[in-house]
Amino acid sequence: MIEARNLPAHVGIIMDGNGRWAQGRGDDRKAGHREGSAAVRRIVRAARRLGLRALTLYAFSEQNWERPEDEVDALMGLLREFLLTERGEILDNGIRLNAVGNLGRLPGIVRAVLDPLRKDSESNGDMTLTLALSYGGREEIAAAAREMAKAVAKGEMRPEDVTADAMHKLMPSLAVGDPDLVIRTGGERRISNFLLYGLAYAELYFADVLWPDFQPADLHAAIESFQARERRFGKVGKPAASNGDAQVIRIAI
Ligand code: FPP
Repeated sequence: MIEARNLPAHVGIIMDGNGRWAQGRGDDRKAGHREGSAAVRRIVRAARRLGLRALTLYAFSEQNWERPEDEVDALMGLLREFLLTERGEILDNGIRLNAVGNLGRLPGIVRAVLDPLRKDSESNGDMTLTLALSYGGREEIAAAAREMAKAVAKGEMRPEDVTADAMHKLMPSLAVGDPDLVIRTGGERRISNFLLYGLAYAELYFADVLWPDFQPADLHAAIESFQARERRFGKVGKPAASNGDAQVIRIAI
């Protein structure tokens, strides 16, 4: 059981460890990505079942283009396959599929399935699944700064209108709100250019499990850890609240 109140609205996941998972089995890195795709499917289902409002998955970073060509091709193929095979389930389950990043760099085989699914699911409102593709947090911040600089140069904006809130509005990854919880699998404790601007007050959770082994129970453990934390957003904490007679609603998982 998981408490239904105080669920993180927006969860981001840095899905790390596919390569090590495969190498540990004497297999090709691509086999790890294939198994990683299966983990994506089960975690999307688990997130929807829990009632999360937004899930953002770091599926391909702007820096991942530097990987060997056969690995990049395999990842693009898996992405296309995921979008094709999950299309029906996404549409039937009220999921809006979105993508953020430098999407213009994606190959035609991905855009051909990604673009129609984004369009066809845009009115779905139960959960937004955002794939960060060819994504970089610094690049996203630079793009927002560039947009504002152009507006200032044209006289459409004053320099003093360049505020933290105005920047926030120009971040596509934060259209669903700041991430409340960011999970990284695979044992490393770093952020690797993910959702940098939105991370300001996110709770971070590092799991040692490699992404292909990540199970719904691991997602639940991360959410329970989130629920046990006090978020202060730079202010002072509240005195411990008594639960009184308030009914705690739990979701069966
Ligand atoms: C990091 O593992 C993972 C990636 C760079 C790609 C993530 C892709 C998937 C989970 C599969 C395809 C995605 C979707 C949405 C269907 P790594 O290769 O860096 O692992 P390592 O740190 O062990 O080398």
